[in-house]
Amino acid sequence: MGRPIALVTGASSGFGAGFARRFAAEGYDLVLVARREDRLRALADELAGLGATGHVLPADLSTPDGIAGLLTQLSEQRLRIDALVNNAGFGTYGIFVEQDPARIAEEIAVNVTALTMLTRALLPQLLAAPAGILLNVSSTASYQPGPNISVYAATKAYVRFLTEAIWQESKGTPLRVLNIAPGPSQTEFFAVAGSDAFNVGQQITTEDVVSLAFSELAKGAKRPSRIVGRGNAFQAMAARFAPTKLTLSVADKQLGRE
Ligand SMILES: NC(=O)c1ccc[n+]([C@@H]2O[C@H](COP(=O)([O-])OP(=O)(O)OC[C@H]3O[C@@H](n4cnc5c(N)ncnc54)[C@H](OP(=O)(O)O)[C@@H]3O)[C@@H](O)[C@H]2O)c1
Repeated sequence: MGRPIALVTGASSGFGAGFARRFAAEGYDLVLVARREDRLRALADELAGLGATGHVLPADLSTPDGIAGLLTQLSEQRLRIDALVNNAGFGTYGIFVEQDPARIAEEIAVNVTALTMLTRALLPQLLAAPAGILLNVSSTASYQPGPNISVYAATKAYVRFLTEAIWQESKGTPLRVLNIAPGPSQTEFFAVAGSDAFNVGQQITTEDVVSLAFSELAKGAKRPSRIVGRGNAFQAMAARFAPTKLTLSVADKQLGRE
């Protein structure tokens, strides 16, 4: 039997590159997806040092053609996926009425549509794999509505809900499904968002995200979701049980408007 294959979206930076390195160290070959091909090629060269083959499949996941093209490449290259990591994503900051409609559409396309369609297309393969993994990256922002990050928080709530439902639907199969919800981290995320104003909560590292996800997967993903950072987990749980008006007011203060 050959090495299992993990497909990581958003592998050109941040958490995605960290996941790719860890899967390679665990004996997987990789399919590396993002727009910046030079970064993916450099990562593939690095992973070769760990004995892993890195298949570089550049794709713009904000477009239907980008998603379809990626799926076509997988099928043409006969790459069957054992582990899917839907990690590509970005955030936008500012009050909803002032947000650029085109940028909102792109945010929903990458964070929601691409994640959903890749999951739907590859789930049969993941379920057929001897030890399949579906790992979706949401955020602590998925645990409460976010004034000033309204669209971002809503996309991440979608990721969490979708993943948790699939976790339940996959019970009794060998597939391990996990929603991992990181807190703020110094990747390229806030530079891409063009604002540091929503960099609130307990700071965590890429290593924290990757190691919590792998430790949960090693235990069989008995829980559908894990929040990275104890402080972040506490705040997310408090938000779940507080009245919505209070949660919104606290979030508004934290996210910079009140
Ligand atoms: N850092 C944080 O504070 C934080 C906290 C909670 C959750 N998250 C989530 O963690 C995930 C990873 O973010 P990160 O922190 O590692 O940020 P990052 O360093 O900015 O990485 C984002 C990745 O997504 C890819 N991506 C963005 N748009 C894309 C597109 N249209 N097509 C294909 N790939 C695209 C980027 O690749 P290209 O630009 O090369 O295409 C990049 O590899 C995201 O889903 C984010 O929402 C981050």
